[in-house]
Amino acid sequence: MKTILVTGVAGFIGHKVADVLLQRGLSVVGIDNMNDYYDPRLKEWRLISLKKNPCFHFIQSDIDDYRVLKDIFENHPIDAVINLAARAGVRASVADPWVYLDTNIKGTLNLLECCKERGINKFILASTSSLYGFNEMPFEETQRTDTPLSPYGATKKGAEVLCYSYHYLYGMDIIIPRYFTVYGPAGRPDMSIFKFIKNMDLGKAIPVFGDGKQRRDFTYIDDIAEGTVRCLDLSGFE
Ligand SMILES: NC(=O)c1ccc[n+]([C@@H]2O[C@H](COP(=O)([O-])OP(=O)(O)OC[C@H]3O[C@@H](n4cnc5c(N)ncnc54)[C@H](O)[C@@H]3O)[C@@H](O)[C@H]2O)c1
Repeated sequence: MKTILVTGVAGFIGHKVADVLLQRGLSVVGIDNMNDYYDPRLKEWRLISLKKNPCFHFIQSDIDDYRVLKDIFENHPIDAVINLAARAGVRASVADPWVYLDTNIKGTLNLLECCKERGINKFILASTSSLYGFNEMPFEETQRTDTPLSPYGATKKGAEVLCYSYHYLYGMDIIIPRYFTVYGPAGRPDMSIFKFIKNMDLGKAIPVFGDGKQRRDFTYIDDIAEGTVRCLDLSGFE
């Protein structure tokens, strides 16, 4: 395997995954539409160090656009796809579910179709702990994931099951890690840890949703990036 397509490459997890791949001597074709869901300057900043590596090629483009994607696949020798591009806010998905459908489901479908057409057999999809809803942890493998509590979770579930169809029909190896809240440098400003720290810094109170007794797993960005890259070594559907 030589060239990996990473979508959402200017994102928090995408830029770190690209970094790990480049460190391993692989080439990375990175796609991102640089949307303004949060300050795009953070996305530009994440790309600075990646762009210094001659094995990194950045394309600003949208995974919703099948024709543009088809061109990218025709013009680059892609061996595997890591699909991290997504609309990823739980609350924001309630306000505008349509954009979540377009990116998380249609975008994933577009990529799967391009892989099918080019005979690319390895596909990694980022999914989410949001699929577990109110279920008890930690029995992830046996938990139901068909009662997501937001359009975000529902669109991720949709993308997961589409992946299963492509695995079944075309024998593609498709691996789907479900991340639990990721934290670390250059993290997402819309996420809880960033908000907690910012409010503490400003001496402001932290808003509490629910009764404040909730518990959650958090995962460090370097572990997530390493685990995501290791998914390339797996086969079948997981
Ligand atoms: N960060 C977490 O804690 C977490 C938890 C569970 C799952 N995930 C999943 O991991 C992936 C990466 O999340 P992240 O935290 O890095 O989010 P992020 O928002 O920082 O990164 C996503 C990137 O995708 C890009 N993007 C969005 N729509 C696009 C489109 N239509 N075409 C091209 N690019 C597009 C955005 O500009 C952004 O740079 C997402 O699929 C997300 O659902 C993240």
